[in-house]
Amino acid sequence: MELRQYTREDIQSKRVVLRCDLDVAVNTDGVVDQYHDLRLERVVPTLVELFSFGARQVVIIGHRGRPNGKPEPGLSLAPVCERLRELAAIEGLDEPIAFIEDISVDPTHHRDQDLVMLENLRFWPGEKNGDAAFARTLGQWGEVYVNDAFGSSHRSDASVTLLAQAMRDAFAGPELAQEVARLGGFLERAAKPFVAIVGGAKIGTKLPLLTLLSQRADQVLVGGALANTILASRGISMGASLMESALFKKASELSGQSFHLPIDAVVSGGKVVSITNIGLHEAMLDIGPETIKNFVSCIQEAKTILWNGPMGKFEDAAFSAGTDAVAQAVIGNEKANALAGGGETIELLERLDLVSKFDFVSTGGGAMLTFLAGGEMPGLDAVA
Ligand code: 3PG
Repeated sequence: MELRQYTREDIQSKRVVLRCDLDVAVNTDGVVDQYHDLRLERVVPTLVELFSFGARQVVIIGHRGRPNGKPEPGLSLAPVCERLRELAAIEGLDEPIAFIEDISVDPTHHRDQDLVMLENLRFWPGEKNGDAAFARTLGQWGEVYVNDAFGSSHRSDASVTLLAQAMRDAFAGPELAQEVARLGGFLERAAKPFVAIVGGAKIGTKLPLLTLLSQRADQVLVGGALANTILASRGISMGASLMESALFKKASELSGQSFHLPIDAVVSGGKVVSITNIGLHEAMLDIGPETIKNFVSCIQEAKTILWNGPMGKFEDAAFSAGTDAVAQAVIGNEKANALAGGGETIELLERLDLVSKFDFVSTGGGAMLTFLAGGEMPGLDAVA
């Protein structure tokens, strides 16, 4: 996919409205979680570039969570603004960021501020409804639109689609372009053996990719609650494990020899049991040692690795062994081209300080799954 990318001339002396992925986790103390700020780290190089190209003003826009078209203080972008300011300062961009709560104010009142961030766009119904009038309101903030939010580009929200038409010029940002270059054709050009590792909680969003992987990957290693759903759909009693019973039928259709499911489990209390011996009140919280051995030996042979989703409740040290072993095996395989992505995967890689050890870590969650599975990406079409 060819994206429209800006040159210095496109940016020089312009006010730029920059759509970013600002959807990051904020802790109960109101501070952005230290293991969730990769998306914000990736905003900084784009800001530096835009100012080095002579941008007169950069207006950062984005969303956080799903506030349903009305203000929800717990989902404000204020903590995100603060964290981004800190990250930008580390890279020498020591600008204050003016935080604007009411996006319908007259933008001319803020013309003297170089760097501005607007409050969570999903506080207004027009964002999710794809409202043209809302896009025009946003468009008044500048002349040039740049979409650098790959993680939101599978949505039709006004700020990733209509806003591109509401402004004089529209471009893909460097972060977005990098995601598309790294992920585009990844499955098609994967050197073999190609091993996919898929985990996490929700199977619904991962089904199209899992189906594709069953045809494309040599091995699909499945862990996390997603594996619980598939195992249960095959008639194995998973006790009190987290599952999506509404998706049993679809999960049971996932077939093929390439699928490797857990053969043992670490259950509540830390006990290791065979997968067919999970008690009625026990929940599988990690893959067991035999499964780890099997997964690690597949990973060691791989020439291409794709990883999305942890193997268990990795944030709890008692249940992190499976995820840790998989992470170490992936980075230990230096001959493989290793790509990872998704919210939880980023969190675990940040916790283990392994982000830089991967060939590429995508900041897209649902967007990465959709793009790899060949689904609709309206945000990319708008800047193609
Ligand atoms: C994400 O985190 O995947 C993006 O911010 C998209 O969020 P959404 O699923 O609420 O549209």
